[in-house]
Order: sequence, then structure tokens, then C-alpha cells
Amino acid sequence: MKRATTVYLYELAWILPSIAIPVGMLVALVVTAFGAGIHLPGNEGRVNPTELATTAPFDKPGIIEMRPGQYEVRMVAEAWSFTPSEIRVPAGARVTFVATSEDVVHGLFIPRANVNVMLLPGQVARVTAHFNKPGEYLLVCHEYCGISHHTMSGKVVVEPRS
Ligand code: CUA
Repeated sequence: MKRATTVYLYELAWILPSIAIPVGMLVALVVTAFGAGIHLPGNEGRVNPTELATTAPFDKPGIIEMRPGQYEVRMVAEAWSFTPSEIRVPAGARVTFVATSEDVVHGLFIPRANVNVMLLPGQVARVTAHFNKPGEYLLVCHEYCGISHHTMSGKVVVEPRS
């Protein structure tokens, strides 16, 4: 009889993780979706990638101050550059990137500012970051987009407050 008990415990040792792992993954999914706001591109903010030159706000790429200390960067990615490629803001700025691609899939990655989005043709990406420390923040394309993908970069220059 002792042997039967051992088999049961052995099974239990496998059954418990097989329940705990999916439950853990479900919890991680719910936390990232609702707590951290990580999600797939939504229906809002679709644009025609062939008409960006005449579609607001991408007809005037650049940076604008929405409120004191709050900026919006309207950015267009194309092979193989970002427009604008250099963004200057004062330290403490809260910057919302509104970006899309006009040709193929690109990425917008600013490692030091927790910005990491895909730029899909026809889809507007929106991500907000805080730039508290003065300095240069490299921004790069991190989706392979062709022969010069590795040269596709720009920077955010955060200037000290005077
Ligand atoms: Cu754009 Cu890689």
C-alpha cells in the first residue's frame, strides 16, 4: 500500500504545477493588459500610409508644446529615417510620441525612456515618456526594415533647466 501512496504524491507533484503555471500566466496577462496597459494596436488612429503628407498631424511632423512641460512629437518613420530625427526638450518634459510609418514596419525604441513600440504602416502608435535627466537619449528602429536598418536612428536631447 505504501507504494500506491508514493505514486499518488508523484502525480500530485505534476498536477499542481500544471494548474499553477496557466493560472500564473493568466494573472500576468491580466496585470500587463490592465495594469501596465500593454496591448495590441487598436482600431482608433488608422491612417492611409500613402497620404501622410496630407493627413494631420503627419503633414507637419515635429514637436509642439501642448501645455507647459508637456510635448507632443508627431513622427513619421520611413526607410531609413525618422522625421523629426532630433527632438529637443527641457528636463522634466513629458513627451507623447504620435508616430506611424509610411512604408514598411519600423520600430521606435528609446531604451533609456521605456519607449518600445512598433510602427506599422496605417496604424498610429501613441506612447508617453518622461525625460527627467538632462542628456542625449538615443532612439532607434528595432524592427528589421531593410538594408540600412542599422543606420535608422535619432535622438532626444534633454536640456538642463535654466
Ligand atoms: Cu526602420 Cu529598421
